[in-house]
Amino acid sequence: MTFARITGTGSYLPDNIVTNKDLEKMVDTTDQWIRERTGIERRHIAVEGQTTVDLAEQAAKNAIEAAGIKAEDIDLIVFATSTPDKIFPSSACILQARLGIHGCPAFDIQAVCSGFVYALATAEKFIKTGSSKKALVIGAEVFSRIINWEDRGTCVLFGDGAGAVILEADEETGILSTHIHADGQYEDLLHVPCGIADNYDQVKAGRAFVEMKGNEVFKVAVNTLGKIVDETLEANQMQKSDIDWLVPHQANLRIITATARKLNMSMDQVVVTVNEHGNTSAASIPLALDVAVRDGRIKRNEVLLLEAFGGGFTWGSALLRY
Ligand code: ACO
Repeated sequence: MTFARITGTGSYLPDNIVTNKDLEKMVDTTDQWIRERTGIERRHIAVEGQTTVDLAEQAAKNAIEAAGIKAEDIDLIVFATSTPDKIFPSSACILQARLGIHGCPAFDIQAVCSGFVYALATAEKFIKTGSSKKALVIGAEVFSRIINWEDRGTCVLFGDGAGAVILEADEETGILSTHIHADGQYEDLLHVPCGIADNYDQVKAGRAFVEMKGNEVFKVAVNTLGKIVDETLEANQMQKSDIDWLVPHQANLRIITATARKLNMSMDQVVVTVNEHGNTSAASIPLALDVAVRDGRIKRNEVLLLEAFGGGFTWGSALLRY
């Protein structure tokens, strides 16, 4: 049986850091409120001219180096983002050219904060069926560009960044299962209410901003993530105690803690970066994964549960042996 196995991870964050104290000067908020309600202390924000693909390029190069392969060995690029550099070509194609790769399939996936799990699930299918041998899977965002910096309900939550993994065909182990879902009926709770084909005037006016009913999203997120944990364990006939690490989407420390509690996991087994990165949407899971791989916490053959919830609503999980 062929598995898709992560053979290298990489990430990249813009140098520019915005602290909660900085935000106190911009909107009616406090460091204390942000820490207590979200766990966030600071976030990295791209400077003018720095794009999603700029961040992704660095993350991809770091992942390629970690996997010990050459860029030209890559035969699939799946790029999760909701903040692409251009309407077209896709960020995957722009990145492909930057990496000097020619001819392999390259496409974007848009599932907001669940984007990386969707991308991983997609790339895994290509590898399992033999269509690809070495895939580059990326989550990268400059969410700061679609934030209303006058809305305290959203501007304190998000950050920019990129994370990447190399997936390779492996006969022994790797991704054990992926689970992805969506329910479009919740569109109005979390969206950017304009685009190319609808309310384009708002885009032209520079007002394409995230709108979120945070409290309502919170409740659905906690409930849904609890269910996807059960679904994932059941599909693999595994116990909660079989999981070594939870690598969750980093939206809010309270949501992460609720999922850890559901799994009877100590917070020592949970990778938390939301304090340093904020919510980087599709980038948050591969960023967290890379941090914990590089600092030596996550080791080869350990079992990881990745899970995410985001706009759409979309949600998903991946269980893997690293
Ligand atoms: N500073 C100070 N006060 C604030 C701030 C702020 N930055 N933001 C909101 N408040 C106020 C509100 O106005 C409200 O005041 P009121 O009681 O006088 O009306 C009060 O704080 C409580 O607001 P809530 O929205 O109920 O606060 P809550 O505890 O729910 O925390 C938060 C808000 C952090 C947004 C939380 O609801 C959350 O994390 N939601 C889920 C986000 C998420 O997971 N999104 C999905 C992924 S994102 C994506 O896909 C793009």
